[in-house]
Amino acid sequence: MRIITKKEIPDSEITDPQILHQRRKLIKAILASTVAWSSLSSKFAASETDWKNLSDALTGSDKLNVTPNDLVKNYTNYYEFTFNKEDSTRLAQNLQIDPWSVEIIGEVEKPLNLHLEELLSQQSLQEYVYRLRCVEGWSMVVPWVGFPLAGLLKRVKPLSTAKFVKFTSVHQSDAMHNGMLQWPYVEGLRVDEAVHPLTLLAVGMYGDKLPKQNGAPLRLVVPWKYGFKSIKAIVKIELLKTAPITTWNLYAPNEYGFYANVNPAVPHPRWSQISERRIGSRFFTPRKATELFNGYGEQVASMYSDMDLVYFF
Ligand code: MTE
Repeated sequence: MRIITKKEIPDSEITDPQILHQRRKLIKAILASTVAWSSLSSKFAASETDWKNLSDALTGSDKLNVTPNDLVKNYTNYYEFTFNKEDSTRLAQNLQIDPWSVEIIGEVEKPLNLHLEELLSQQSLQEYVYRLRCVEGWSMVVPWVGFPLAGLLKRVKPLSTAKFVKFTSVHQSDAMHNGMLQWPYVEGLRVDEAVHPLTLLAVGMYGDKLPKQNGAPLRLVVPWKYGFKSIKAIVKIELLKTAPITTWNLYAPNEYGFYANVNPAVPHPRWSQISERRIGSRFFTPRKATELFNGYGEQVASMYSDMDLVYFF
């Protein structure tokens, strides 16, 4: 299996050739090792030609601002472990991720319970370079490796009664000790949002497997919504008739709406959303203006054309 280069990355930022070189080295290292996730490793077995194509496709741009991998790996939000963005790297290593399976149930004709290997054997992995905007006011540009959620949902044949999708994270109480919120972490999307081509299930980033602190082995990525919608370590996907109750909405409904579309015109009750700090930028670099739908409006705005985005925040 090979990585297919996504040449038409919508409005994306582009990868530095040096990162591509590092990736190639990393992938070779994974392939040389015999650790678990063997089937996933084989999916990263890009040939020389694939890498040349990838590199040719990505270096044709003058924008070289993918966030360095080290920053993305070591500045994470994983509240089941801790509220501290650096400690989560160490604490998440206690998560058991092999074996892993995912249930896809609810308003569907063909419910499935799939081992990760089985789930991946039916998907082509591609690279998607997306911006990630956290509700806290910082942002990154991450090259994810994954596949559109739509393909997986199609396999379970959703019924016409399925209007929403609920996602549930794993909760391993022996490793996850933060009792401040109600676990497991739950998120949700409307069905049309879930099957939008920008919505991904990611299993890797920077050409490697996902680090545990970034949501291994399988996480959601919804680039036009605040980062808290992009739930990590998914074990259950349920199609529902009505909107699920989600972790952050339950915790503070006036602060974290169900939709959570990035929107500079709707402030968080405790801070503005007009601008953002790009992780890795220099201290004196001015903050970046936040874009409606995180800059993906051309692709997603039509899903919300008849909605008041201030009310449905
Ligand atoms: N998923 C789970 N299960 N637990 C979490 O605490 N944090 C969310 C989201 N997914 C979170 C989660 C938040 S607030 C953000 S901003 C993104 O993950 C951050 O992803 P990253 O840590 O890989 O940058």
